[in-house]
Amino acid sequence: ARAAEGTRKLAEQILAPVLSDIWDHEAPWTLESYRRAGGYRGLRVALDMAPDDVIALVKDAGLRGRGGAGFPTGMKWQFIPQGDDKPHYLVVNADESEPGTCKDIPLLFANPHSLIEGIVIACHAIRSEHAFIYLRGETVPVLRRLHHAVAEAYRAGYLGKDALGPGRDLELTVHAGAGAYICGEETALLDSLEGRRGQPRLRPPFPAVAGLYACPTVVNNVESIASVPPILARGKEWFRSMGSEKSPGFTLYSLSGHVARPGQYEGPLGITLRQLLDLTGGMRPGRTLKFWTPGGSSTPLLTAEHLDVPLDYEGVADAGSMLGTKALQCFDDTTCVVRAVTRWTEFYAHESCGKCTPCREGTFWLVQLLRDIEAGKGSMEDLDKLNDIADNINGKSFCALGDGAASPIFSSLKYFREEYERHVTGGGCPFDPALSTVWA
Ligand code: NAI
Ligand code: SF4
Repeated sequence: ARAAEGTRKLAEQILAPVLSDIWDHEAPWTLESYRRAGGYRGLRVALDMAPDDVIALVKDAGLRGRGGAGFPTGMKWQFIPQGDDKPHYLVVNADESEPGTCKDIPLLFANPHSLIEGIVIACHAIRSEHAFIYLRGETVPVLRRLHHAVAEAYRAGYLGKDALGPGRDLELTVHAGAGAYICGEETALLDSLEGRRGQPRLRPPFPAVAGLYACPTVVNNVESIASVPPILARGKEWFRSMGSEKSPGFTLYSLSGHVARPGQYEGPLGITLRQLLDLTGGMRPGRTLKFWTPGGSSTPLLTAEHLDVPLDYEGVADAGSMLGTKALQCFDDTTCVVRAVTRWTEFYAHESCGKCTPCREGTFWLVQLLRDIEAGKGSMEDLDKLNDIADNINGKSFCALGDGAASPIFSSLKYFREEYERHVTGGGCPFDPALSTVWA
């Protein structure tokens, strides 16, 4: 309810919500509710178009991948070779697990048909007859709701025999993963889907060339695919009327931490954290923002000085970070940055798949050093050692998890080195952990 109320407020002041439009309708997850709100209109438009024209439209609209990297969706679809005799696959990455990120799972829970409609359109475009949704397995209620929606879509003829036109069937398989962060990395996800232990593959070849079962495969995030039907239904100019030139459109932000009203908020790309906080009640009473993540803990921390940075790919990059998953974790002045970074690093060490040495060994040693510093047992040399180890992980690891683990180390040392030093000289943490406990 809190998210719906916040979304509504943003809608009044910024734009009408698109992805979260029907989240507060009655039973929005049902086909009936989705169709009543205009659902599956975009699909009708798409099926009257040639596949290449659908790809061109999505490309011209400027939709960029919402899973974190921001790769142009239409271009990714275009990489799928045509005229080959191999099957093509669409795999939807619903293994959302970047710390602080909470948008795909709520989207699937509230409105799974928006994803299913997007899947059918994407399969038409890339000439695929089998799509997969790889869902985070712990989210059992979402899994049930998704199965229910897929069954409804089969009964209604959106999936199954001749779904894409005469002689063009479409199967959709929902697969529940077993809860490993690394399985959100697209090639580890493909290994896991094939029944193997989920570990990243060497890229190139990218999945577009050799993906699932070594066939051309598009791997897209849930929000990316759910953003496609409105583009078909309302056109590329409408989509481009929001956001910025290079980062057009709307998106879901996950707002969490020491804020008055955490939740999912929909707005245009390019909105600032200051605007979002103004619209959603700000930080908790009497407190000020100290640091925040633009896209989960894998993106470098920013501070209160960056409140007016446009939340789009270019704006956040210019500020020295990355937009990532748009998971805005906000921490106030009661928070010990060393403590926060220690918790994140423990997460990365736990989730490191062990395939490459810099990440497997490096994240382990980072945790040891951080725990010592937090407990007042660290030295000034340890701060340089932290930086050195992070440097040996960053850009030298096999996949993006390593770089993600190094991000909070570099950025916290850049902005808060003095706070690390106080832990060393003052014999431990100067903050009261009870004060910074997140309340919601
Ligand atoms: P990437 O930039 O290497 O690739 C992005 C996408 O573009 C991939 O699908 C890749 O196959 C495709 N691609 C890139 N270059 C290509 C080429 N030359 N030919 C064909 N396809 C190409 O990013 P990556 O490593 O896939 O993802 C990293 C991002 O994931 C980070 O920015 C992070 O924010 C995000 N992330 C998201 C999580 C979540 O829970 N949503 C969890 C962890 C990280
Ligand atoms: Fe595995 Fe970490 Fe290496 Fe990625 S960077 S392959 S998660 S050990």
